[in-house]
Amino acid sequence: MSKRILVAGGTGFIGSHTVVELHNAGYVPVIVDDLSNSSIKILDQLERIIGYKPEFYQLDLCDIEKTEQFLDQNSAIEGIIHFAAFKAVGESVKKPLAYYRNNFYSLINLLNYYQDKPINFVFSSSCTVYGQPDVLPVTESAPVKKAESPYGNTKQVSEEILAETAAANKNYNIVALRYFNPVGAHDSALIGELPIGVPQNLVPFITQSAIGKRGPITVFGDDYDTPDGSCIRDYIHVVDLAKAHVAAIKRMEAKKAADNYEVFNIGTGKGSSVLEIIKAFETSTGVKLDYKIGPRRAGDIEKVYGDVEKSKKELGWQAELGIEEMMKSAWEWEKYIKANPF
Ligand code: WQD
Repeated sequence: MSKRILVAGGTGFIGSHTVVELHNAGYVPVIVDDLSNSSIKILDQLERIIGYKPEFYQLDLCDIEKTEQFLDQNSAIEGIIHFAAFKAVGESVKKPLAYYRNNFYSLINLLNYYQDKPINFVFSSSCTVYGQPDVLPVTESAPVKKAESPYGNTKQVSEEILAETAAANKNYNIVALRYFNPVGAHDSALIGELPIGVPQNLVPFITQSAIGKRGPITVFGDDYDTPDGSCIRDYIHVVDLAKAHVAAIKRMEAKKAADNYEVFNIGTGKGSSVLEIIKAFETSTGVKLDYKIGPRRAGDIEKVYGDVEKSKKELGWQAELGIEEMMKSAWEWEKYIKANPF
């Protein structure tokens, strides 16, 4: 009997790609999502990729009664991958309470249910917790710095909640994955990033500008202390990122971990500047971009990219797809969405 893995936030960008990789690895993905930041049409797209419509339950994990009722009725869940959180840095500054309520209530309600039964739990964390690292590439042992946004703070505090819960109760097996910058789309071009409104992130803005949905790209500053003056990030293909979640579940099933709370950097270990990404998109797709240099964006850090040795050695995972595949897949998805609007 294939193991059932709960994917909280499974109709979202990273969640939907993880549903595909769980299926490919022989698991049965079970999706819960409140659809506040995703479309139920993703289920039809997933059916076209994996051959069946995955189990889906619309559920607000902030509602403890409904969450516990769901988990009572689905006791065969053997692992949880928790993506369900609000994640827009800028929006979190305007709506801090909505972020604290949603991101903490959903996490605590899920964890609370497993105080007396074992659970393997993967948490979606972020390199945001590092702030501007003092040393690059940044390792998992680097200090966590005071978050510059409520969103970043929810990730930092969520990691503390997980660490303290695991220390207090060995029923929990927890892995926190610190993502760098997820970009790209599944090579079928049937699922991808669906930003609501004007994209805040670089790559969806690039693809929407390229397809004519947005005006020129603004490069937020070219006066940083980097080779070409623009900010550096560690961009990772969303399919590689999805596979890291399967690796985390497998690691916990194998009980190889010395500790019941572990943290892993999920990036490529390589940094790319904004201008390099723009150039990479143009050379990968043959599409010329229109961009201009603008002022720095408040809150941006100058450069961050991950040391991913621990993930290679202990998680047995490493990124396999490069910037070219990231740009090409993002562009194919943008063209698909234009022809097949959700
Ligand atoms: C990347 C670079 C911008 C848009 C955030 C969160 C992180 C994760 C990903 C949730 C920066 C520059 C961007 C544009 C630009 N979110 N840029 N013009 O800020 O590194 O990370 O999103 O999981 O947690 O912190 O990603 O794509 O917004 O920006 O020049 O129109 O692109 O200044 O240097 P970021 P991003």
